[in-house]
Amino acid sequence: MSELIPVLTIDGPTASGKGTVARAVAAALGFHLLDSGAIYRAFALAVLNRKVDQLKINDLEMEAKALSLEFRDDSVWLNGADSTELIRAEAVGMLASKLSAVPEVRAALLARQRAFAQPPGLVGDGRDMGTVVFPDATLKIYLTTTSDVRATRRHRQLEKHASDLSAQTQRDSKAKRLIEKGNSSTIDSSLESFASVEEKIRQRDTQDKTRAVAPLKPAPDAIVIDNAAHGPQQTIDAVLSLWKLRSR
Ligand code: DC
Repeated sequence: MSELIPVLTIDGPTASGKGTVARAVAAALGFHLLDSGAIYRAFALAVLNRKVDQLKINDLEMEAKALSLEFRDDSVWLNGADSTELIRAEAVGMLASKLSAVPEVRAALLARQRAFAQPPGLVGDGRDMGTVVFPDATLKIYLTTTSDVRATRRHRQLEKHASDLSAQTQRDSKAKRLIEKGNSSTIDSSLESFASVEEKIRQRDTQDKTRAVAPLKPAPDAIVIDNAAHGPQQTIDAVLSLWKLRSR
């Protein structure tokens, strides 16, 4: 990580809108984008693909170190296969959340994330961008709102894109089949009801916030934005204004 490369971090819980904001801010500034959640999701998918009953910490660490992952434009390639859609399955996200609590996994994926800091600059989106991966970032944002608001947004999204929902279900069934073969039966892939969406958001919040290593929390020097009352564009504009002030 070079201190000369400008880095803007956006951390926050699931469905906080940070992905949308990070993408738009990176585009506006002409910066690279690190979607660190996609790395953890791809790792979870790689683990599922191994279809073994139990993986020891050593195996997980080796798998994380050897992860053959490539970002090409907007797509994510895992072991030479376009996995852009599959990693978005809710079940894969949930497993990513569980596996990301393993310290050896986080350590093995750290250098890969830091390597994204290239000129002219980087926007890093995740859970520990400002606290662990880029502690010297120029500007740190923590984007959040209540789980109720986040669940409402996500549920609306699902309703609005009925065709996407059916694609999601297909991805989830594929992920679920993999999970069943991998014997990780605790993962539920249902996304239908509001209650189910909200419950999953709460569960993921708890997992991400209570893990011992790099838990989700604002860095002490982060600016916290509660975007309950803002549309995405307002949040994007606010972050860009803060960046202008900070990077002068
Ligand atoms: O942001 P996301 O939903 O794509 O992330 C999936 C999971 O990956 C998230 O629940 C926890 C983990 N993750 C992490 O531990 N650290 C990050 N910087 C990004 C994601």
